[in-house]
Amino acid sequence: MTFKRTLVTSALPYANGPVHIGHLAGVYVPADIYVRYLRMKGESVLFVGGSDEHGVPVTIRARKEGITTQQVVDRYHELIKRSFAEFGISFDVYSRTTSDIHHKFASDYFRTLYDNGKFIEQTTEQFYDPETGHFLTDRNIRGECPHCHAQGAYGDQCEKCGSTLSPEELINPYNAETGNALVKKPTSHWYLPLDQYQSWLENWILENHKEWRPNVYGQCKSWLDGGLKPRAVTRDLDWGIPVPVEGADGKVLYVWFDAPIGYISNTKELCDAHPEKYGQWETWWKDPQTRLIHFIGKDNIVFHCIVFPSMLKAEGSYILPDNVPSNEFLNLEGDKISTSRNWAVWLNEYLEDFPGKQDVLRYVLTANAPETKDNDFTWADFQARNNNELVAIYGNFINRALVLTNKYFNGQVPAAGELTDYDKSTLDEMQHSIAEMIRLLDAFRFRDAQKEAMNLARIGNKYLADMEPWKMAKTDMTRTGAILNMSLQIAANLEIAFRAFLPFSSEKLRGMLNLPELTIEHLGHFNLLEDGHQLGEVSLLFEKIEDETIQHQLDRLARIKAENEQKAKQEELANWKPAAIKEATSIDDFDKMDIRVATVLDCQPVKKSERLLQFRLDDGMGERTILSGIAQSYPDPSVLIGKQILFIANFPSRKMMGIESQGMILSAVDADGKLVVTTVSREVKNGCQVG
Ligand code: 2FM
Ligand code: ZN
Repeated sequence: MTFKRTLVTSALPYANGPVHIGHLAGVYVPADIYVRYLRMKGESVLFVGGSDEHGVPVTIRARKEGITTQQVVDRYHELIKRSFAEFGISFDVYSRTTSDIHHKFASDYFRTLYDNGKFIEQTTEQFYDPETGHFLTDRNIRGECPHCHAQGAYGDQCEKCGSTLSPEELINPYNAETGNALVKKPTSHWYLPLDQYQSWLENWILENHKEWRPNVYGQCKSWLDGGLKPRAVTRDLDWGIPVPVEGADGKVLYVWFDAPIGYISNTKELCDAHPEKYGQWETWWKDPQTRLIHFIGKDNIVFHCIVFPSMLKAEGSYILPDNVPSNEFLNLEGDKISTSRNWAVWLNEYLEDFPGKQDVLRYVLTANAPETKDNDFTWADFQARNNNELVAIYGNFINRALVLTNKYFNGQVPAAGELTDYDKSTLDEMQHSIAEMIRLLDAFRFRDAQKEAMNLARIGNKYLADMEPWKMAKTDMTRTGAILNMSLQIAANLEIAFRAFLPFSSEKLRGMLNLPELTIEHLGHFNLLEDGHQLGEVSLLFEKIEDETIQHQLDRLARIKAENEQKAKQEELANWKPAAIKEATSIDDFDKMDIRVATVLDCQPVKKSERLLQFRLDDGMGERTILSGIAQSYPDPSVLIGKQILFIANFPSRKMMGIESQGMILSAVDADGKLVVTTVSREVKNGCQVG
C-alpha cells in the first residue's frame, strides 16, 4: 500500500500536572523525530497533539488545590503547551478537549453510534456515597487490601503490595476524599460491545499487523486471547462531556471515549481554520491513502489498538492506525516516575536549571529511549552522554573543523582535493551509517538511528584526528585545504543527520556553516559547500556539564525522596484503622493464659540479632529471661529498665540464638508497625496475675 500522506498523533497528556522526562522520552520526542524526518523527506505530514482535560485525575487535583477543575486544566494546558514548544515538539496543532469544537464533535460521534445501535445499555451495581450523592470511580475508592491488609489501598491497586484490585475486593471500602462508607447502587451505562469486534480485531492485528513492535503486538494478543468484553463508555461524573441522550443527566462520556476523538477534533479545528494550508480534515481521517500513526506509552496500548479502532470501525467511515509505536516506561534513578510523588524531572524546571540545553535532554532521552523495555534516566548518564558524546565527539569535531578553517583559510571553504584511499574509505563508512540511520528511522527505531548519527560524527572526528591538518599546514596547504573541505562537507551532513533529533543544534550549526535548510536528499553528498563559501560565526555547539551541576540535581532528588518517605509514614498513620475483631473466644480459652506483671531488671540487645532483645525480669518468684523480637522498636532498650511490664508466664519455653526464652512479653502494635511494651497504670506486686 502506498500512502500519500501521514497523520501522526501523540497521546494527549492529562492536564493535571506539568510534563516530565517520561512523557518526552516515551511519546513526544520519538513522535517529533519521526515527523521532522518525514518533513525533511518532503512528505505530506500532519502532527496532532493536545491536552486531555477530562477524567478523574484533573478533578482530584482541583479538590487538592482548592480551585475549580477548569482552573486546573487552564493552568496545566498552558504550561504543557509551552514546555512542548520550548523542547521543539513541532505540532501542527496543539489543542484541548475542553474546546467547544471537541465537545460538539465527541458528542456527535457518540450520538451517531448511539443512533446506529452500536452501544448496549446495561445496569450494574456501583459504589455510591449516600452522603455526597456521588458514584465513585475506582481510584476514588479506598479500603483495606484483601491481600496484605494494608489500609488505604485504592480501588484499582494496592500501592503497598502492588496487587491489581477491583473496588469489590476492598475490605470496608470508603470514599477516599470524604472517608464516608460506601453502598452499592444500581446505575445504567452505555457499553461498546468489544466482544462483537473480537474476530475482526484478531484478523486486523494478529494477521495483518505482525510488523507492530513486539510489546504492542504481544499486549494486543494477550487482550484478545483473554476474550474481549463490553466496555462502558459513559460514567457518573459531573466533569466531562454530557451524554447526549435524554434522561442521561449526571452522566458524561468516559474520558477514554472522548480523548482519542480529540485527535480528530483537533485536526478539524486546524483544517477548518486554515483549509488552504492543511486541506479538509476528512482527507486526513477518511482517505485510505492517509497513513495514521499513534505514538503512545505502554499504558495506552489497549485504548489505541483495541478500543479506539473499534470506535472508528463502529462509525465506519474512518481509516485505522497503520502503526502504533508504543514505548515502555522510563524510570528516574531506578524508581518509577510519579507525578503525585514529585519523582520526576519536570520540563519547566529542567529549563530553569539548564537554559538552552533542550537538545541535550532530547539526545539523552533518545539514547535511553525505552523502546523495547523499561529504561532508566540517571543524572550521571546525562552528564556522561553530554560530556563524552555531544561535547567530546560531535561538538569537538565541528569546532575543530570550523576553527581550523578560520585559522588557515579566513573562514572560506578551501578547495576539495583528489580523494585519497583513506578519504574514500571514510566516505564509504559514512554512507553505510547514513543508509542504516534511514532504515532505522523508517522502522521507528530512533535510539539506534541516533546512534548512527553519532557514529557519523565519530567518523568525522576520527578523520580529523588521523589527518592532523594542523601538522599538514606546516608543509602542504593544498592537502590541508582538502582535509578541511572534506571535514566541512561532513559537518554539513551532520547538520542534516541530526536535525530530526537535535533541531536546535542543527539550526545553530546551519548558522555557523552559513547554509540554507537542505533536505534529506542532500544527505550522503559531500559537495554541499562550494569552494570559497564563507562560513558564519563560530561558537560552541555543546558545553561541558560540571559535577556540581549534577550534584545539585541529585541533592534535589534526595530531598524529595526523604519528603516522600515522611509523607508515606504520615499517610499510613492517618489511614490507620483498628483491625477487625477476631472470632469470639471463651472464658476457658482466656483462663488458660497466665498473664502476669514483672519488673524489668535488665534489657539488652541479643548479640548478632537485629530483632531480639533479652529481658531479665523479677517475676515475684525469682528471675526469668524472656527474648522478644522488638529490637527495631527500641533502639535504646535501657528505657525499659525499671518498668513493670505484662508477660505470658505459661508460654512454652524455647531457645533462640542459644538462649532459653521463658515466656512472652506483651506489646501493642502501633499504626506505624512499631511495638510498644505494655505496662501497668500504677505499681503492683511483681507476679500478680492479669485477668
Ligand atoms: O494516559 C494518558 O495520559 C491519557 N491522557 C492519554 C490519552 S491519549 C488519547 F487517547 F487521547
Ligand atoms: Zn496489598
